Formats: sequence, C-alpha cells, structure tokens
Amino acid sequence: MQERISPASAISGEISLPGDKSISHRYAMIASIAEGASRIRNYSTGADCHSTLSSVCALGIEVEGAGTEFVIHGKGLDGLRKPARDLDAGNSGSTIRMLSGILAAQPFVTRIFGDESLSRRPMQRILAPLREMGARIAAREGKFPPLEIQGGPLRPIDYTLPVPSAQVKTCVLFAGLFAEGETAVTEPVRSRDHTELALREFGAELTVARQRITLVGRPKLKGRELAVPSDLSSAAFFIVAALLVPGSKLAISGVGLNPTRSALLDFLVGMGARIRVPNLESSHGELVGDLVVEHSALRGGVIEGALTAALIDEIPVLAVLGAATEEGLTVRDASELRIKETDRIRTVVDNLRRMGVEAEELPDGMVIPGRQKFHAAEFDSYGDHRIAMAFAVAALRGDGESVIEGAEAASVSFPGFWETISAIAR
Ligand code: S3P
Repeated sequence: MQERISPASAISGEISLPGDKSISHRYAMIASIAEGASRIRNYSTGADCHSTLSSVCALGIEVEGAGTEFVIHGKGLDGLRKPARDLDAGNSGSTIRMLSGILAAQPFVTRIFGDESLSRRPMQRILAPLREMGARIAAREGKFPPLEIQGGPLRPIDYTLPVPSAQVKTCVLFAGLFAEGETAVTEPVRSRDHTELALREFGAELTVARQRITLVGRPKLKGRELAVPSDLSSAAFFIVAALLVPGSKLAISGVGLNPTRSALLDFLVGMGARIRVPNLESSHGELVGDLVVEHSALRGGVIEGALTAALIDEIPVLAVLGAATEEGLTVRDASELRIKETDRIRTVVDNLRRMGVEAEELPDGMVIPGRQKFHAAEFDSYGDHRIAMAFAVAALRGDGESVIEGAEAASVSFPGFWETISAIAR
C-alpha cells in the first residue's frame, strides 16, 4: 500500500493516540497468569499487541472484548494449556521474547514463530538465561525463530544482562515468577521498567535497588482493572511533526511519561523544543500527562551511551528532525538498531538520502548534518512501522508531494496513523 503526503503549512489540533505497546503486551501476559478477570482499557490497537492476545487465547485463556477494551480471564500461574497450534508472534519481538519466559515454565511443548522480519531477529539473548533456568529450547540455526520450547520446572537465577534490553529483562522476570525462590536481574543500563511496575500492580513481590531487580517466585497474582496510557513512542512522530513545521501547535492527551521512556522529552527540550506538560498524574504506577508542542528552532545534539538505549525506538524520527536542526544530529552506540524490525541505521540513511538529505552511516550509528532541505521523494518503509511513520513526518516538510511505499507497516503499532496525520496537517 502507498500513501501520499503533501507538505504541511502547520500541524495543529488535539489528538489522542493508541495505548502504549510495551505496557499492553505486559498487562495481557500478566493478566493471563493472574487469578480472575482483568479489565484492560485503552489496549494498543497495533497488530503486535494483537499477536500477544491471540497467543494467550491459544494457550487457553478466555479474552472478551474488542477495539481497545478487553477482559482477560486469567487462570493463575498453573492455568495455561498446551496450544492446539503453533503460536504466531507476527512481527512482534516483544511477544516472542517476553512470552517465552512464561512458556519456558509450562509442562508442555510450545512452538512459536514470526513473520519474515522476526524470523531474522536474534533470540540467543533469551535462550541463554532460560536454559540456565532449566528450560530446553530449540531455535532455527541455534538462534532464530521459530522456537520450540520444552517447558518444565525452572530454577531461579541471578542474571546480568549482556545487552540493555527490557524484553530480555522481562523474559527472565516472567520465568522467575514460576521458579521457587528469588530471581535477580541486573541491567548494565536502566531500561524501561513497565514490567516491574505492572508486576507490582498484579501483586508480585519485587524490589529494585539501582539496576538490580529481585523477584520472589510463585506469587499470587490477582486480576486487576487497568488503563493503558497512550504510547509516547507513537506520540514521538507527532511531536517531531509539530517541532518541524513552522506555525505548528499540537496537543496530545494522556501520554505515558514513565521516566524510563521520557528521556525523549528531556532530549528535545535540551535542544530548545517548546514542549509543555500541563497535567501530570500517576496511574497504576505509570506517569501519564498531556503534552502541548509548538514549532521550535532546535540546536541539534548527540545521542550516545545510556541515552541511545533510552531513545532506541525514537531514533528513526529523531534522525529526520536532526537534519532540520542548526547543528545536526549524531547517533552512536546504536548497533542494536541494526537488529530491530529492519536494520534501522541502513533504512533511515537510505530514506534520508532519497529526499536529498546528506547522512553518513557509521557501524553503530549515523551523522546527519543540520540545516538541510527536505525534497519530495519516494520513500520505502521496508516493512518497518517506525520507518513508514518517520518518513511520513519528513514528507510534511518536503517541497512537494511524497510517496511512502509499504505504508501498511504502520499498523504494527498504529493502525490509525494515516488518518491521524491527515487530521492534523493543515
Ligand atoms: C521493548 C523494548 C525495546 C524496544 C521495543 C519494545 C519492550 O526492545 O525497542 O520496541 O517493550 O520491552 P529491546 O528490549 O530489545 O531493547
């Protein structure tokens, strides 16, 4: 599918966005192994989170509802049953990596597979700790999906993550729920902590001391009523659109502003962005706020070290923004970007060049000089949702109509993206 985007003279209006993808996955998975019903409001509409819902259904969990509100009838830690078919994680790294922690503890064999992109993404990072806990798992070529997980009793571990990854942290903590005793995970760099907050909400006993999380196994998890904040990583596309296009003023309501995710706002404000948070409140341990963003002249900056990990999903759209700043943008320490839904260093640099923007590719990042002009172009999403959306935003600053090929990819996290962008572009 192709989408055409014309240059905008301003971005304005008030929008609300789908539920946070990371939180939706976690609530659905934990609700399935909690006791009793959980009602989840503002559940992500993205295809990835629906891969999680259909996987838990296949594991014998009743899920009622439609749209953005679901009731998940959890059956407790020992209530899942052997699926009649292989589980399909689609494009979702979160589904396969996090759910594997739960599957590793089940008294049956599960096979889980994904689409072409997911089938190329590395799984050793979860295989190593799960095997240490006692699970037997086979993977294609020893490292790729499909995975065949022979679950069984698990022992607790004390694990230090070799890569900063909230998905791997979550996988180990989920497995630790089923092990008698304490499972500990130490992170080299603090990653998003939605799992820790959600597990506490459902009643798990968990302590966090600096970058070390300790979880007591075999907790009694209880079904809950929960509301998912809107996804800051989806909001990032609209925040950047408003910053880029002169004369813009955009309000976005109810956005998740968890401090392990909101480095995006600090980074933008540090470059001179006019972003206000008129309301801020706490909901189920997560911070939620409204945002007001106005067009701003930005200095440019460097994303490296721990900041790279904190901004990992936002780097494609920040790269677009970087080309319009005074001093440009440099991204380093980002080799993880090469193993996302696409090699995002390559797909970002390729699309920047298509619009006549100069960009240098580094092994672990990119250098994008500032003050560049955006020319209308034919972009390719390469099947990656964040690439499709990042270059739709770039097209708003183009000098003519641009085309985005493979635009349907946006539905992985944000099916309503194209309607929302046309509603706010003047
Ligand atoms: C996610 C963690 C990140 C992120 C992904 C969602 C999560 O991946 O890129 O979109 O929900 O835990 P890694 O944990 O692999 O860095």
